[in-house]
Amino acid sequence: MCGIVGYVGEQNATSILLTGLKKLEYRGYDSAGIALYDGEKITLDKTVGKLSKLEELVSNNRPEGNIGLGHTRWATHGKPSTPNSHPHSCCGGDFVVVHNGIIENYANLKAELKEKGHQFSSETDTEVIPHLIDEYYEGNLKAAVRKTVAKLKGAYALGVLSLQEPDKLIAVRQDSPLIIGLNGSENFIASDIPAVLEHTDKVYILDDGEMAEITANQVDIFNVDNGESIKKDIFEVDWDPGMAEKSGFDHFMLKEIHEQPETIRKSIAGRLNKTDIEFDEVSLSKEEIEAYNRIYVVACGTAYHSGLVAKYVIEDLAEIPVEVDVASEFRYRNPLIDDNTLVIVVSQSGETADTLAALREAKNNGARALAVVNTVGSTIAREADDVIYIHAGPEIAVASTKAYIGMLTCFYMLAIYLARQQNKLSDETSAKLIKALKNLPEQVAKIIKEDSDKIEQLAKNYAGEEDAFFIGRKVDYSVALEGSLKLKEISYIHSEAYPAGELKHGTLALIEEGIPVIALATQTSVLDKTLSNVKEVKARGGVVTGVVFAGQEEIDSFDYQIEVPKTEDILSSILTVVPLQLLSYYIAVERGCDVDQPRNLAKSVTVE
Ligand code: AGP
Repeated sequence: MCGIVGYVGEQNATSILLTGLKKLEYRGYDSAGIALYDGEKITLDKTVGKLSKLEELVSNNRPEGNIGLGHTRWATHGKPSTPNSHPHSCCGGDFVVVHNGIIENYANLKAELKEKGHQFSSETDTEVIPHLIDEYYEGNLKAAVRKTVAKLKGAYALGVLSLQEPDKLIAVRQDSPLIIGLNGSENFIASDIPAVLEHTDKVYILDDGEMAEITANQVDIFNVDNGESIKKDIFEVDWDPGMAEKSGFDHFMLKEIHEQPETIRKSIAGRLNKTDIEFDEVSLSKEEIEAYNRIYVVACGTAYHSGLVAKYVIEDLAEIPVEVDVASEFRYRNPLIDDNTLVIVVSQSGETADTLAALREAKNNGARALAVVNTVGSTIAREADDVIYIHAGPEIAVASTKAYIGMLTCFYMLAIYLARQQNKLSDETSAKLIKALKNLPEQVAKIIKEDSDKIEQLAKNYAGEEDAFFIGRKVDYSVALEGSLKLKEISYIHSEAYPAGELKHGTLALIEEGIPVIALATQTSVLDKTLSNVKEVKARGGVVTGVVFAGQEEIDSFDYQIEVPKTEDILSSILTVVPLQLLSYYIAVERGCDVDQPRNLAKSVTVE
């Protein structure tokens, strides 16, 4: 999932393209490139590695031009290399393309084009596109692009620049996000809003099967298939550019961890009253809720982990069976869906291809589809029947933190809502849970303020390790999975999470002298059981860090103990995950890892 940008206007495009790519670098950072029309020819500058390498490359010989395209890559077809970097061009260089997505039938198209004498200089799927445009061009760029797109199978967001019609860009969207930024006598294209926010808060969000012809003063949008013109509404963005800056923190991840109290406040704002939850965006009647015989929560990665907590709280409070599925499995396993099925998809970016496909699968099979999403105006948000927005604001670090906390907050509210609608939760219990929810922002702030230094010290003990384990029971186990993912994805330490009671059925064999084990122990009903599992680990030499509620007397089985403020057992996940986020962060910093842009990963996974 790459990041693409484009500009046409009066300013020099180079710095605008580079700044836009900087804002999209979280989408992929294997290589980067820009192409500009300088009044005579199209210049191409591209290099393997981070955007900083490209900035270096063009610093001495800065390309000039008022129109151009840019790309930052997450490699799918062809290893990270300069020849495989975008933009790609046809043999003569007349047509230049940047692409985000995967062309599934590129091999056949490439063979056909080679037959016709086209020379290829990369291993990528993308390079077939400029060659096809070159093949079909008969004096009308839009027509040539439409003919080309008709040949493509797969997902693509495209930006096209040509020597024949150098005053315009062509943009095309099919199953990969693309927006057009509008700013009077200049226009932009981009994979995501942060790339244009510095210049405008007015955008068109392209839908699948739409293309745009963009000049400095005009944006015309068409249906790709029939070429008919489309009138679109302008979307006004309510984020300010500052929200996508580091604000003095060393990393976006640490900044976003510190933003979590605010995230909870924004998620609950206007949705809580003394005993009930109100969602403006969702109206499920008592009859509809009672008709649901099954709820699926479907997502990927961290969003999936929030679904595991949702299962506990929805089944416990609303007594509706919940199945939690990894999206890439859900859509191909023929899930049992009917009109009495509610499918909840969860996504920070709202663009994750597997989750989007699962949403479409659910709707095609008659389910009601509710989305819990962060990114306003994203594809998942627009295609779902109902949307609960997380309101976490832009999340830039690849490792998701504040969005996870926002997802949990929304699921707690949703569980109370579903239970209350069915009279399954008394005023008293509901009021107690809602009061506890309201306390969470301060409690999270307290952990960050009081425990960060201690956790930073603890991280030094673990930074040299190559393996780690996380254990817990009930919601603690779901949070253990998230803690383990955070450690893996930013510190590259091999880590696994287990239900504490499951260790003795095999994995305990991996516990030896010095192995770090993080044990979450906040679930009172199973605390003794969890502590006996900790003793089993200690007996084999594990070094155990316990995460417990404050007021819990010192537990001698723990080598280190982190206390979080007391809350309702079922709400503990919002507090216990914070020390795990901080621990992973400080271990990654101690190991000198690239915290915000971990290797091999990207922020939103828009390919299957
Ligand atoms: C989490 O830190 C990762 N970035 C990743 O697992 C992420 O949660 C997953 O790709 C889902 O992304 P989404 O929430 O944008 O759909």
